Amino acid sequence: MRKLKHDVIVVGSGLAGLRAAIEAARNEKLDVGIISKVQLMRSHSVCAEGGTAAVMQPELGDSLELHAWDTVRGADFLADQDVVWRFVEEIPKELLLLEHWGIPWSRRKDGRMDQRPFGGHSYDRATFAADKTGFFEMQALYDTLQKFENVTRYDECYVSSILTKNGQFCGVTVWSLTTGEFFAVQGKAMVIATGGACRMFGFTTYSLTATGDGMAMAYRAGLPIKDLEFVQFHPTGLVPSGILITEAARGEGAYLRNVKGERFMEKYAKAKMELAPRDIVSRSEQTEIEEGRGVTGPEGIMAINLDLTHLGADKINERLPMIREVTIKLNFIDPIKEPIPIRPAAHYFMGGVHTDLDGATPVPGIWCSGEAACGSLHGANRLGSNSTAECLVWGKITGDKAAEFAAKTQNYPDLPPDSALQDEENSIFKRFSNNGKETSFAVRKELQKTMDGEVGVFRTGDGLEKALNRIKELRKLVPYLRVNDTGRIYNTDLMSALEAGNLLDLSEIIVTGALARKESRGAHSRRDFPTRDDVNWLKHTMAYYTPQGPRLDYIPVTITMWQPVERKY
Ligand code: FUM
Repeated sequence: MRKLKHDVIVVGSGLAGLRAAIEAARNEKLDVGIISKVQLMRSHSVCAEGGTAAVMQPELGDSLELHAWDTVRGADFLADQDVVWRFVEEIPKELLLLEHWGIPWSRRKDGRMDQRPFGGHSYDRATFAADKTGFFEMQALYDTLQKFENVTRYDECYVSSILTKNGQFCGVTVWSLTTGEFFAVQGKAMVIATGGACRMFGFTTYSLTATGDGMAMAYRAGLPIKDLEFVQFHPTGLVPSGILITEAARGEGAYLRNVKGERFMEKYAKAKMELAPRDIVSRSEQTEIEEGRGVTGPEGIMAINLDLTHLGADKINERLPMIREVTIKLNFIDPIKEPIPIRPAAHYFMGGVHTDLDGATPVPGIWCSGEAACGSLHGANRLGSNSTAECLVWGKITGDKAAEFAAKTQNYPDLPPDSALQDEENSIFKRFSNNGKETSFAVRKELQKTMDGEVGVFRTGDGLEKALNRIKELRKLVPYLRVNDTGRIYNTDLMSALEAGNLLDLSEIIVTGALARKESRGAHSRRDFPTRDDVNWLKHTMAYYTPQGPRLDYIPVTITMWQPVERKY
């Protein structure tokens, strides 16, 4: 087996991964490898639409304190406040850096970067590039990355495992989808930046590739996964595809209406209306639908109307061109003239690989950033536009720290023996001779049905029990899944089987954590425990891998500035 070497290995090539790679590569003495399951610019970050939150106009009334408070309150007080403070301080610098790297921000008449309202923020601080913010941020990072000769790209390469020796990181194993080769990459430091995993849900805004591979690998390598029961449902997933209709639509003034044409948010969040935080808006929509006030959407799916018709063609064309294009192409609906059918869609993991303030995991040599990580910035509910921001801030921090560590490490830590690397390769390709009845596609569909049905906007103990039992049954099938394509090159059948294992491991963590957490907080809303319980549950869930399923433990929330109070909007 071929063995390659890089001082710093970045796995994942979305906003966090590219930002980490750039920061690490600034040390010209290091060489950096960036490994991605997809071609770099196909990472899910290009789908980010509405904006990136940052305090850019303090002279007009915004402040770091206000951004921090909005984030902590939005998080239903489960965010670590030292992490939040670091975030609000760092993100304005990152946006100016992107400005210098050539991003075409949307601008005010005076030429300065424009900002728009977003849910749960008490100031218009979502900095944006029309409704393609993620795409343009990725483009600016991608262009910048071209300047560095010390970066090697491994596009369309699937990392199958994280290797450690004597408790320290030493490398990864990789299957190249383009050549079929299986190889090892030895490294001194690693940044996991593989994003989230909402593809275990059927109705989701995620790309098909977002299967949480890095998070699941980290879990199996012994790293704790934190707060995974908190899954965000975005209020406006297009029916029936689930494609994101950006919150910026509501930021620009769109209304949510029920079948009677009422702006029902008045009942649920009178002050903030459509711009309440996402957990509240999604619960409100779900309640309207369940109580019979939804509209019948495409394919008979019950939905809510997102009404932009009063915004006018000019505003929609200038500030929301992509969602117009998407709804015309996919739903034959022109939002200038007609409302868009939407409903809550699985959108984001507040939890992830446990990290400290610097994005360091408990394993020396491994950092994690972006959605794959949980430094506890978002607590129980993330505010819209704080995610791309987090990717930039901790992309930079983790790239910097990983580079510092690699520069100080003289020798590459040894890889495990060849026999162990060979075992890993065999464990993947032996699936070609599986004769199980089930395919990964059927198992993943069943998982999606289970997660959509029982682990959605509202949860119950009975539903979660049912989901957990089903997940355990499905998980047992994974080693035997039938793989019909037995070639090594571009074998999406085999990759889907590997992804199924990752999705099931993570689903099991979500449901086990959700079942244990007997309260409602942020996006975790239990009908059988409808209130927040700070006495017993103001704590983070930590899930550790065992072959029988996750073992749970808890750690305290860091509170430095604000004690929890009732959350009203
Ligand atoms: O609605 C949106 O544009 C999504 C933004 C986010 O998740 O931060």
